[in-house]
Amino acid sequence: MTNHVHVVDHPLVQHKLSVLRKKETGPSLFRDLLNDISALLAYEITRDLPMTTRTIETPLTTMDAPFLENPEMCLVSILRAGNGLLDGMLQLLPDARVGHIGLYRDPKTFRSVEYYFKIPPNMENYDTIVVDPMLATGHSAASAIDRIKSTKPKSMRFMCLLASPEGIEYLHEEHPDVPIYTASIDEGLNEKKYIVPGIGDAGDRMFGTQ
Ligand code: URA
Repeated sequence: MTNHVHVVDHPLVQHKLSVLRKKETGPSLFRDLLNDISALLAYEITRDLPMTTRTIETPLTTMDAPFLENPEMCLVSILRAGNGLLDGMLQLLPDARVGHIGLYRDPKTFRSVEYYFKIPPNMENYDTIVVDPMLATGHSAASAIDRIKSTKPKSMRFMCLLASPEGIEYLHEEHPDVPIYTASIDEGLNEKKYIVPGIGDAGDRMFGTQ
């Protein structure tokens, strides 16, 4: 399982995450830190993207220079908290397309129900990163990935700020082919399925709705 999970333990990520976790960190600083961390996570998650070489001219000479083979990636945000990861990622991936998927949990069946889905056409062209800050039970991530897989993306990765061991296990069972990138694997879930020690409700913290 561990090969499948990448914990980005860079000192800048870990420092910023600790400030973000603090309960007295308000929405404005929370969003700024999330932008910084998501850019740093994007840097790691794109580390093995395929490269190609093209001949360019510098002011001094010609050279065979490395370029991304396919700079047009697709980011898919799981609403609403996933949107908090987009700006930071788009700083590094300005040519990325952005899709959105909205899911809620049916209170009777506990199954994920889709209420919104908008992604670019021709997903087979895109290396795709699905983003949600919290991998808690893993159910919404797994449902979102199921749905996006039906559009046959070129490749798929999942990125979150925090993961629980339970969420990692569930996502790995459902989608063993999808690698997970996170800033931390926390202790676990409490009785309300919040990640502990965690950050609380990610959407509420970023939008000031608690
Ligand atoms: N979603 C959140 O926003 N926080 C958690 O801890 C778990 C799920």
